[in-house]
Amino acid sequence: MKAVAVFPGKPSSVHLTDTPMPKVEDVPNGRGVLVKVLKIGVDATDREINDAQYGNAPEGFDYLIIGHESFGIVESVGPNVTELKPGDFVTATVRRPGGSIYDQIGTYDMTSEETYYERGINLRHGYLTEYFVDEPEYIVRVPQGLSHLHVLMEPMSCAAKAIHQAFEVQRRLRVWRPKTAFVMGAGQIGLLATLILRLKGLEVYTLARRPGPRLNSEIVEGYGAHYVSTEETPLEELVAKVGKADIIMEATGNSEIAFRSMNALGLNGVLVWHSVTGGDRETHVECDKLNIEFVLGNKLLLGSVNANREHFEMGIKDLALGDSMYPGVTEKILTNPVDGLENYQEMMRLLVEDKDALKVYVNVADA
Ligand code: BGC
Ligand code: ZN
Repeated sequence: MKAVAVFPGKPSSVHLTDTPMPKVEDVPNGRGVLVKVLKIGVDATDREINDAQYGNAPEGFDYLIIGHESFGIVESVGPNVTELKPGDFVTATVRRPGGSIYDQIGTYDMTSEETYYERGINLRHGYLTEYFVDEPEYIVRVPQGLSHLHVLMEPMSCAAKAIHQAFEVQRRLRVWRPKTAFVMGAGQIGLLATLILRLKGLEVYTLARRPGPRLNSEIVEGYGAHYVSTEETPLEELVAKVGKADIIMEATGNSEIAFRSMNALGLNGVLVWHSVTGGDRETHVECDKLNIEFVLGNKLLLGSVNANREHFEMGIKDLALGDSMYPGVTEKILTNPVDGLENYQEMMRLLVEDKDALKVYVNVADA
């Protein structure tokens, strides 16, 4: 069967390859789930993998099948699978466990080992192919009524984890009633984080460089949040107008903004860093100022990566709630379909060149 792969470490090596068709029996103990791939989303991580900034092939391979945002339909299941049945719409988690205690209890997104395994990213093949097989633990059902949001399940799981973690750590305050949120960045994660924070009843300001009206601002406003162009209203000006934020979710992909965001965090607040920055840029930071503000204000800086099954389930519930609170808004994120695995060059071109593409995804097959 066809698959889209790269040679990790070799820039611009994305290519179409032929790979053996997986079988339900590949998973021991009759626990295999064979999934027919319908759609796969791609994001900046795939671009960085193709730029050779990120990613590794599985042991024994010189290539890595990419694709980590999956949407498919169960084709067949092993005799000991009770959780899923043929015809179910599904997505799959990205991380696979290592050996730490966190890995063993299903929280592989919190592994304490340096080496992590991620399908389509690091040391495990991904989903940009025709079929994949895995254990039911890693396959999450997508309700029929949400199938129009297909490839958003994985990005949503990452946003859901980040915000859930923020609320978990804020239990340190006994009582935490956050009112104002800043979301840095209006890409897919920024937009989905905007939705989650709105569903929690916060006043949300989503910041992006370019002025509206544009699709991103339409989506932000569709969620009842405020779109702020930092070209028109720099962060300091926003703070002067509305005060500092109780929670900041940083998802711009820009590490300098991650640091600058520290200036906009209110007392007892939490700043969540979510951008994966593959480069080695350096910048000047006002370290005395930031340090004293964080100390005197009991402020918290939290990093959050990936997601486990629970976060997929949380994300799916919020997508469903979001669809009933703000009908028709979330699907606007799904901007750029590409038809067929053989069109992988067009997929990469859109990822690299089209600055307006909110979500590039591949239509692999029909259900
Ligand atoms: C993926 C995450 C992954 C992260 C780091 C992101 O693009 O969505 O699942 O953990 O990259 O590799
Ligand atoms: Zn991703």
